[in-house]
Amino acid sequence: MAVERTLILVKPDGVQRRLTGRVISRIEDKGLQIVAMKMLRITPELSRKHYAEHVSKPFYPDLEAFITSGPVVAMIVQGPEAVGVMRTLMGQTNGRTSTPGTIRGDFGVSRQMNLIHGSDSVESAGREISVYFRDNEICDYTSVLTGQCWAPEEA
Ligand code: RTP
Ligand code: MG
Repeated sequence: MAVERTLILVKPDGVQRRLTGRVISRIEDKGLQIVAMKMLRITPELSRKHYAEHVSKPFYPDLEAFITSGPVVAMIVQGPEAVGVMRTLMGQTNGRTSTPGTIRGDFGVSRQMNLIHGSDSVESAGREISVYFRDNEICDYTSVLTGQCWAPEEA
């Protein structure tokens, strides 16, 4: 087990549907810690950097049009195995088949408008965090609740 950081986006549909607060609440309720956050509009250039693995795929033009269609809220989320924990909390890509209880399973019926992005590996997280945040935008603080959320020997 390791303390990890992962890059999370509330996608344009989540912001437009005014679900940002509820998504953040799910992350905080889980016991994970937000260490950076900002609202921004993704440009086509930033989209190509973020979704580098998908740029050559047939669905990429639609993905870029959607992710640049309105503001997103970007966050760095930290905690024990945060990358995998967030992927579980998010649910599967398609909201129609995502399990109820997950963010995508509870709030959406779309594969494209699926509310949230989360890094899919520790390596992707490191790359994506550096795409969205400078070092001086990250608040490296100790949460007073950490001792109530997970034991030191789990780190
Ligand atoms: P994300 O990267 O946004 O967190 O989503 P994910 O890991 O669950 O899914 P991924 O395979 O990385 O795909 C990125 C986004 O592209 C759209 N997509 N469309 N038309 C298609 O076949 C298709 N496949 C993926 C989705 O919006 C997905 O979130
Ligand atoms: Mg992905």
